[in-house]
Amino acid sequence: MTPFIKLAQDFRVNWNVNDIVGKISDDIKDPNNNLVPYYDPSGAAHWQYYLNVNIAFTRNFYKNFPRECFEVYIKLKELQKEYLKIPTDDELMLEFINHRIVPDRVNIIRNMIDGNVQPHSDATRTVCINIGLQNSNTSKIRVSNSTVESEFYDTPTTDFIMNDGDVFLLSTKNTHSVESVADSLDPRYIITYHLK
Ligand SMILES: [Fe+2]
Repeated sequence: MTPFIKLAQDFRVNWNVNDIVGKISDDIKDPNNNLVPYYDPSGAAHWQYYLNVNIAFTRNFYKNFPRECFEVYIKLKELQKEYLKIPTDDELMLEFINHRIVPDRVNIIRNMIDGNVQPHSDATRTVCINIGLQNSNTSKIRVSNSTVESEFYDTPTTDFIMNDGDVFLLSTKNTHSVESVADSLDPRYIITYHLK
């Protein structure tokens, strides 16, 4: 499958990233240490941190920020409408244009850029859309043609650096890594939407 497709740039949200992030409580781990999403029963928005890949996902995000999710949902639907006009047989693109977009799959990723994200395929999803939100260009993403983690350094990778506002459709089954390309210690925030 095509490892990624850049769908758009200049995707801007009307909410302030720092305001929203300031309302998300600290990292909570699944008490059972499962990889699947863990939603704290309090209902509060929190981060779920994955130590092995150095990435945190928000949980209970839609519950606490429905308007923000709805805005992203509307914009993704508009984008999908544009792509529906273009005939394609690309497997990854078909995943996007045949998908029924829903607002409660909008989420945020936090990636502390002082450390790299080791090559991996995502455990909980296979196709997603990532939208650069803040400090997006402080890391380089390398995507392998292979889905086998141990082959990452032996098979060709395609690399890209996202800018804030860029929209990428990604096959997260393909092994990928994230490498810091800046010295800043500020976290990198990405809106993410999982298709499947
Ligand atoms: Fe990943």
